Amino acid sequence: MATAATALTPRIYDAQLHAQYAGLYERVRERIPLAEWSVHLPYIDAIQTLKRARRAVILAHNYQAPEIYYGVADITGDSLALAQRAADTAADVIVMCGVHFMAETAKILSPSKTVLIPDTQAGCSLAESITAADVRLLRLRYPGAPVVTYVNTSAEVKAESDICCTSANALHVVDSLAEDTVIFLPDQYLGRYVASQTKKRLVLWQGACEVHERFTGDEIRAMREPGVMVLAHPECPPDVLEAADFVGSTAAMSECIRRGGTHRVLLITECSMADNLAIEFPEVTFTRPCNLCPHMRRITLPKIYQALRDLAPQVEVDVEVARRARAAVQRMLDVGRREAA
Ligand code: 13P
Ligand code: SF4
Repeated sequence: MATAATALTPRIYDAQLHAQYAGLYERVRERIPLAEWSVHLPYIDAIQTLKRARRAVILAHNYQAPEIYYGVADITGDSLALAQRAADTAADVIVMCGVHFMAETAKILSPSKTVLIPDTQAGCSLAESITAADVRLLRLRYPGAPVVTYVNTSAEVKAESDICCTSANALHVVDSLAEDTVIFLPDQYLGRYVASQTKKRLVLWQGACEVHERFTGDEIRAMREPGVMVLAHPECPPDVLEAADFVGSTAAMSECIRRGGTHRVLLITECSMADNLAIEFPEVTFTRPCNLCPHMRRITLPKIYQALRDLAPQVEVDVEVARRARAAVQRMLDVGRREAA
């Protein structure tokens, strides 16, 4: 039998609906033309209603489009923040507007909650680059070396790991370990960046982000102008990071802008993030080579609406895999807590 929530259909866009969300539109109008807003708003309104009915929380990664990031998300941030907030939420349902590994991490940390991903095909080239069997072989090859796994991996790979990391805490995690040799998986570029900052020897894997590996140092130098600050994500190749003024996770790049001191930014990362930042910092001019993540783009308002309406697709992780993966993710979160204490 249809409940009030499942029976809900989006309203028709009209002046009354527009007026109800006038404040939100004022905020995003520079990035979302009225013609697009009239398509998005009925879904934003329906999602807000369903969210309350389902006691759901919507988590959105910094790469989500502005209509999701500003229109429906309750919590936004980088991979680390999303993992921390997924562990803490009191909601019954988590909707992950991000890619599959992020939804899996939420399920690992909140096994009793319903975790939804609006599109199960929202993958990640890094997560695709390595399997649990690969990790087991590496352990045989480097006995005694702990395995640090970037969260951009499957639950099975996390389950084979000693500790996880994100781009925000990779160096702290590596330096928190007692051993001199560390297996660091699977992003070769993040690994090389960490290796350049630590005294430890890192054994790397050949994985790469299909979005960030496309940037080049020559491209950055050609785009650089006087007075422009270049911010880059550590998934970029070394020549890009050398050409940058600041290297950090998506949240660290936002924080760098928030601290001020720059009015012109060249943002070397997935380009939707610049749209979100341009709304938050209207005084800053952003230049960005537009490399979009095709996986992040799979998440749309109609799919979020359907996921909440149908409570599907749900993310499930095998209980034993989840238990082992949780230990690796929890160790990472504990390193963060020790840092903060
Ligand atoms: P952050 O952890 O910096 O948000 O990055 C996640 C990601 O997928 C970058 O491509
Ligand atoms: Fe994966 Fe790269 Fe997309 Fe991030 S931007 S989700 S690392 S493919």
